[in-house]
Amino acid sequence: MRQTLVAGNWKLNGSKESIQTLVKGIADGMSGVDGKAVAVCPPYVYIPMVSELAAGTGIAVGAQDVADQESGAFTGEVSAAMLKDVGCQYVIVGHSERRSLYCEKDEDTAAKYVAAQKEGLTPILCVGELLEERESGDTENVVAKQLDAVLSLAGVESLANAVIAYEPVWAIGTGKTATPEQAQEVHAFIRGKIAALDASVAEKVQILYGGSMNGSNAAELLAMEDIDGGLIGGASLTPDAFLAICTA
Ligand code: PGA
Repeated sequence: MRQTLVAGNWKLNGSKESIQTLVKGIADGMSGVDGKAVAVCPPYVYIPMVSELAAGTGIAVGAQDVADQESGAFTGEVSAAMLKDVGCQYVIVGHSERRSLYCEKDEDTAAKYVAAQKEGLTPILCVGELLEERESGDTENVVAKQLDAVLSLAGVESLANAVIAYEPVWAIGTGKTATPEQAQEVHAFIRGKIAALDASVAEKVQILYGGSMNGSNAAELLAMEDIDGGLIGGASLTPDAFLAICTA
């Protein structure tokens, strides 16, 4: 059985004060979270504070991005070793906002994935299609290409220490969730693609769904065979909304 993981992606939101309140609120509700793993991904500058607040609560900490380089003259970047140093266990790579707003290519995402794993961080690799790609029947091609960039650089066995997040871009922050059937179809495709290379890795790898997941739709999404958790944006910004997913 794969453990369910619910990860909050706070994006560019929060302040010292609001984040303290948020972490404390989530921590207070952790006793009601049965068997699921819970993680939060704050903006970089708040990671050390969140790591301290989360210690001993069962909440794991992740980052939203990472440099593909280890050190040196790369202004503005933060390395995987630094993230590890301040208490991160996870790091999101290839989020659609990085891909679309910051021109991150499949190859860049793959390099970040490798950099994260080299330091023992677990990458949460995001894949997903645009609305026009879904409408033109290209969903599987797009997702396959995004996965292939990582598979060819890191190999299928690397997925034993990674998490995949299927996030249809048209469902992110739009309130338009994929139906459980639509999501399951792509999750099964992803697992099948991995299984063709290594059945035991495919059986183990957690595949999260992301895109307007909330307390009302989480239970039916999480009930699908190949959906092993959620990557949550908007609904991770208040303890009640996030805990409603964690306890769904
Ligand atoms: P959303 O974001 O839950 O606000 O749709 C999900 C994500 O971007 O990871």
